[in-house]
Amino acid sequence: MSIISNCTATAIKDAAAALVKGDLVAFPTETVYGLGADATNEDAIARVYKIKGRPLGHPLIVHISSLGNLGKWARDIPEYAVKLARAFWPGPMTLILRRTDLAKNFITGGQDNVGIRIPSHTVALALLKEFEDQGGLGVAAPSANRFGAVSPTTATAVEIELAEFLSKNDQILDGGPCLVGVESTIINCTLNKPSILRPGAVTKEMIEDTLGITIELKISNSESIQVKAAGLLESHYAPNAKIFLTGSPTIGDGFIALDSFVTPNGAIRIASPKTNEEYAQVLYEAFRLADIKGLRKVFVVPPTGGGIAVAINDRLAKSAFEK
Ligand code: TXA
Ligand code: MG
Repeated sequence: MSIISNCTATAIKDAAAALVKGDLVAFPTETVYGLGADATNEDAIARVYKIKGRPLGHPLIVHISSLGNLGKWARDIPEYAVKLARAFWPGPMTLILRRTDLAKNFITGGQDNVGIRIPSHTVALALLKEFEDQGGLGVAAPSANRFGAVSPTTATAVEIELAEFLSKNDQILDGGPCLVGVESTIINCTLNKPSILRPGAVTKEMIEDTLGITIELKISNSESIQVKAAGLLESHYAPNAKIFLTGSPTIGDGFIALDSFVTPNGAIRIASPKTNEEYAQVLYEAFRLADIKGLRKVFVVPPTGGGIAVAINDRLAKSAFEK
């Protein structure tokens, strides 16, 4: 496995060629790093599941470079989904749409729908565009972490998570720390009204403003039969340290809160974001730092309000869930 720290045009060409050959390329997106594979190559996708240790039924998101390619993967696209795509792509949003025959069961977990995203990170977009220029149709990319663990937001974090499982010809592209820091908003667009399956930086408020309707944040029972999402499990995104969302730290415990909160006596401060956006950006690195420091307990003061705080609180609740 090689780590490419200077993503020049030549490096992007090589990485795209590696994907075409069936090798894996971990790459930065604005949300988190993804472990990329040719979405039409069953063997490459099988390796992604194996390397992540991910159960086979959990579908992967297909990443494309432009709206022009959407029709290859998705059909019967509702008008509201087109509006969302125009408003928020490229960006931190995944749409679940009815699939075409191109989206095989090994991508969709056997479901009749497929998750599609156009990321905005320049390295991701350049890679996807080059992959398509070399004949590729889409890059499947789950977050580049082992199943149930914290998503990586730096190339170093990808290396720590996956290096031992990657092969000689696989690559990790280093595009710096991710700006958003939590995974994309997933919106179910298979029914007559959209609903949010996983909150992210494209917020409920932004979606409602764009569409002029109110939408659901919670997955309903009838929908949960249709769409399965690993991020919907109650326990996920968890470091080794135990996460507490209430109570106070004692000496030697970790502490994460907005900068305006004073560190309790004896606690080890591991993040002091100034805004909720920065909170999202640093959260997963703070979890990793807790593990590097060998902390057993981390006390977190969750952010309040709507917007991105909803996504942060969703991840915090899952990371704190008793396994
Ligand atoms: O920000 C992101 O979305 C990142 C970057 C790399 O793009 N990717 C990511 O992928 O978070 P992953 O696989 O770690 O999480 C995607 C979630 C999973 O919970 C998966 O089950 C769900 O999306 N998902 C994917 N395709 C789906 C589908 N067709 N129906 C329902 N859920 C789907
Ligand atoms: Mg993930």
